[in-house]
Amino acid sequence: MISCSEAVKQLWEYLDGTVDEADRALVEEHLSRCRRCCGELEFARELRRVLAKSASVDPPADVLRRLSQTLEELKPMSPDLMHTAEIKDLVRDAYRQVPPTTAAVAHNLYSNEELALVPQSAIDRALGVANHLRHATIRSGDTVLDLGCGGGIDTILAAHRTGPTGRVIALDFLPEMLTRTADAAAQAELSNVEPLEGELEAIPLPDDSVDLIISNGVINLSARKARVMAECARVLKPGGELCVSDLTVEQDHLPREILTQPAAWAGCVAGALAEDDFLHKVQRAGFTGARVLHREPLSIEDCALYPLFSDEVIALMRRLIPIERHGRVAVAVVVKAFLPQMQ
Ligand SMILES: C[S@@+](CC[C@H](N)C(=O)[O-])C[C@H]1O[C@@H](n2cnc3c(N)ncnc32)[C@H](O)[C@@H]1O
Repeated sequence: MISCSEAVKQLWEYLDGTVDEADRALVEEHLSRCRRCCGELEFARELRRVLAKSASVDPPADVLRRLSQTLEELKPMSPDLMHTAEIKDLVRDAYRQVPPTTAAVAHNLYSNEELALVPQSAIDRALGVANHLRHATIRSGDTVLDLGCGGGIDTILAAHRTGPTGRVIALDFLPEMLTRTADAAAQAELSNVEPLEGELEAIPLPDDSVDLIISNGVINLSARKARVMAECARVLKPGGELCVSDLTVEQDHLPREILTQPAAWAGCVAGALAEDDFLHKVQRAGFTGARVLHREPLSIEDCALYPLFSDEVIALMRRLIPIERHGRVAVAVVVKAFLPQMQ
């Protein structure tokens, strides 16, 4: 399957009827599957633009009809998926207010030995979805970037492993989270944690400046995932490693009423990609060897551990998702990939 951005590139030729057979088939397939594509819906936006200008483009009537129909079908997704600024605001609001009640998440994901290294304040604010640190290569002296550090649990664990000659840059767009991470680092007597305010989509670091990027349950919150991957590729040194935990979901399988709930986006589910789309985006950003090292199903009960999910959304899930899928509404994956070494 091709991505939205690739489909957009083919769109003009497609409308003109000059696209070749193979590309036509790819665009057709894309049109029929656009809903569970990259989540950015660049394609839908482009369709609107084309349809608005259709008089000058003059595509065949049947093509126009089908494109209009596709756009119509995409409409129910638009409150969540079309307005990236709104998504960012809803994520900020949700995480700013998140209470420190998620020690159960930490105990699900980390061993007692790991948790013994982490101050209670960070354990109480664990909001990750898996434990990628078990798979990450962290060497003494490394510079690690933790994207979306939250309360700081992974930052603290990584900072123990880099040792004092290395450092962990803890990035988050919420100053509140950075304060929590800094406080947790101070309690853990770590002097190699550097909080950094910024966005995943525009990482305020120079090119080729970090050895490893980690992130836990954060990329799925961005409405611009391709941009996030491109930023990761930019700031990593050649040969650098990306090792992240994120939720994946077959969006076809989640009812629209759930996908369009803001709380479902804040809870990492509505913005999650299908696993192959996630890997595809990693590869498109220039990474090699992208693979899934671990998969962990997320049940409705697991979702209820995260305060981001309102009682209303949990009730909707129980009501609308067929009972045989209650144990697997999403799958947390650990994905690892590398930037190629410089030629
Ligand atoms: C699900 S929490 C995960 C926190 C932490 N990684 C953990 O495992 O506990 C998501 C975190 O990412 C931050 N975040 C979400 N979107 C972001 C963005 N676009 N740029 C920077 N930080 C973001 C939120 O403020 C929040 O702290």
